[in-house]
Amino acid sequence: MLTEGLETLEGVTFHDLYEAYPDFDIDVRREQALLEAHDIIVLQHPFFWYSTPAILKQWEDLVLVHGWAYGQDGTALHGKKLMNAVSTGARQSAYSRDGFHGTTIEELLLPIKKTAELCGMQYLPPFAVYGAHGMTRDEMHDHAARYRAMLKGLVAG
Ligand SMILES: Cc1cc2nc3c(=O)[nH]c(=O)nc-3n(C[C@H](O)[C@H](O)[C@H](O)COP(=O)(O)O)c2cc1C
Repeated sequence: MLTEGLETLEGVTFHDLYEAYPDFDIDVRREQALLEAHDIIVLQHPFFWYSTPAILKQWEDLVLVHGWAYGQDGTALHGKKLMNAVSTGARQSAYSRDGFHGTTIEELLLPIKKTAELCGMQYLPPFAVYGAHGMTRDEMHDHAARYRAMLKGLVAG
């Protein structure tokens, strides 16, 4: 739903891992070249079991290798910015200390923040759409528009 209108957004490259790698056979060089060519990386995904879908974890494990992404000579990502754009089934109130899940999205995304920092990237606060279950079509369009506006702001600096 959040992908609505992204393909034509100026300054934004929309890259769908499921479409590119339906069998999870990730082309590491292609992914590294894409990362090298961009200043801001937005990992957009639904929240699955308090985390990313498996294909995105696979991408992290294969693409962010020592000597390229981190380590003494691993400077390819230095100075870039990284953020998550997530959708959740649960409502926003569930993602709080007193809520059903007892923790926040920001806390649950800590492994990605730490990964970004280890790779010399600046981690930006996540963009989150809560309560995808039971959302009306109009609400979905509103969130997609809010997401596009946020991306345009990032492109504009
Ligand atoms: C395998 C699986 C795990 C999920 N885990 C969570 C979860 O941990 N927390 C949550 O709020 N929603 C969870 N959901 C709901 C999804 O986040 C929700 O369906 C998704 O954000 C909707 O966006 P989409 O229409 O782009 O798929 C899960 C859904 C699936 C299928």
